[in-house]
Amino acid sequence: MTGTADERGGGYGTGASGEGCPRAHGIPDPPAPEEAGDPYAGYAAAREGPAVRAVPAGAAGRVDHLVTGYAEARAALADPRLSKDTTTFFAGKDSRRRLHPAVSASMLATDPPRHTRLRRLVTGAFTTGAVRELRPYITRVTHGLLDGWPAGRTVDFVAGPAEPLPVIVVCELLGVPEADRPAVRRWSADLFAAGAPDAVDAASHAVADYMADLVAARRLAPGHSLLDRLIAARDAEGRLTEEELVSLAVLLLITGHETATHALGNALLALLRHPVELRRLRAHPEALPAALDELLRFDSAVGTATFRYALRDLTLGGTEIPAGSPVLVALGAANRDPARFPDPDLLDPARDASGHLAFGHGIHRCAGAPLAVAELEIALRAVLERHPGIRLAVPAGRLEWRRTRLVRGLVALPVRV
Ligand code: HEM
Repeated sequence: MTGTADERGGGYGTGASGEGCPRAHGIPDPPAPEEAGDPYAGYAAAREGPAVRAVPAGAAGRVDHLVTGYAEARAALADPRLSKDTTTFFAGKDSRRRLHPAVSASMLATDPPRHTRLRRLVTGAFTTGAVRELRPYITRVTHGLLDGWPAGRTVDFVAGPAEPLPVIVVCELLGVPEADRPAVRRWSADLFAAGAPDAVDAASHAVADYMADLVAARRLAPGHSLLDRLIAARDAEGRLTEEELVSLAVLLLITGHETATHALGNALLALLRHPVELRRLRAHPEALPAALDELLRFDSAVGTATFRYALRDLTLGGTEIPAGSPVLVALGAANRDPARFPDPDLLDPARDASGHLAFGHGIHRCAGAPLAVAELEIALRAVLERHPGIRLAVPAGRLEWRRTRLVRGLVALPVRV
């Protein structure tokens, strides 16, 4: 990974970064604590102006372009003139950052045709049929985690099942041994945290080295996991390089974790804050799958997509963007655009929210979306069925939100059951 400390980013497909890399992961600086809880007033104010506008960025003289309108966000996410390929973009530039290339140059940081080739290798693992086969496992794990909830007490929904469930599932999918899962959780948290750049870099090396070792171990004792299939695609078919193999496995291991944890927390919180909708869903659990789109739209766990870069001078939503300018799509803002979703601040599980952008859009749209949706549906259904009287244990205003760079979610969600 190359790039100046100002421009080059960390994390998944990133590129832009400020001094000392506050922009690692290709997203803006972490929100101020007072905004982390409710970024939507800020998004609404931003939408008063042009749907695509220049915003001063951390580093001297740098200007990013922020996209807040729904139509413009959708167009930007599918625009081939906006590149994700940060390795090409920042080639030859110096950097103080030491992110492992398995993280900084992952599939999420590639353009076609490389992206097309890599993405084809993983889509099979997340088809409707493949996810259907995983459902009994997800259900078993969810109930196992809920079994630990003591009745009549305050419990933290984030601590379990929201945090462990997605890690356990993705580790199972990839064949990561149980004993290694706590380390995976730690690296993932470090990679998404708003901590010191050195800690992010260290986590990127730890997880990449771990995956390289795991690949070596699986070559000696092959199994039937997704990782084994990726190894076969390399060894038997030559469809990807060794670096790409490790990077793809790391991407899958990490991206499906924090995102799903916070989607679960945000969705349950939205329901607890809307008791009428909660009651309705409890009475009609068959409506839950359709309601998930609205829950994902209402409080998107990924507030901002990763940076894209204008390959040439272009116009987006009437705004001119010069070649080289970073473009940031605010998914959370687009999902509350009244031009697309009337009364956007209203949680309305009956509305058709299927066009939401919580999973992104275009060729980089979340590869694991079907799995994430299954996890959400199974976990929320289980909680509502087993704990019909569930309610918030603290006033919503006192909940603490994580100040992370990419994902938006709660530190803890204390509930009474
Ligand atoms: C509710 C949970 C999730 C949310 C909200 C979410 C959101 C997203 C978003 C917004 C992107 C696109 C980023 C961009 O274009 O800049 C993305 C990409 C991706 N996600 Fe997810 N994700 C979730 C769960 C998962 C899971 C469970 C997995 C897999 C185990 C996964 C794997 C991926 C991968 C591999 C990509 C990169 C796709 C590409 O570059 O083609 N995600 N996700």
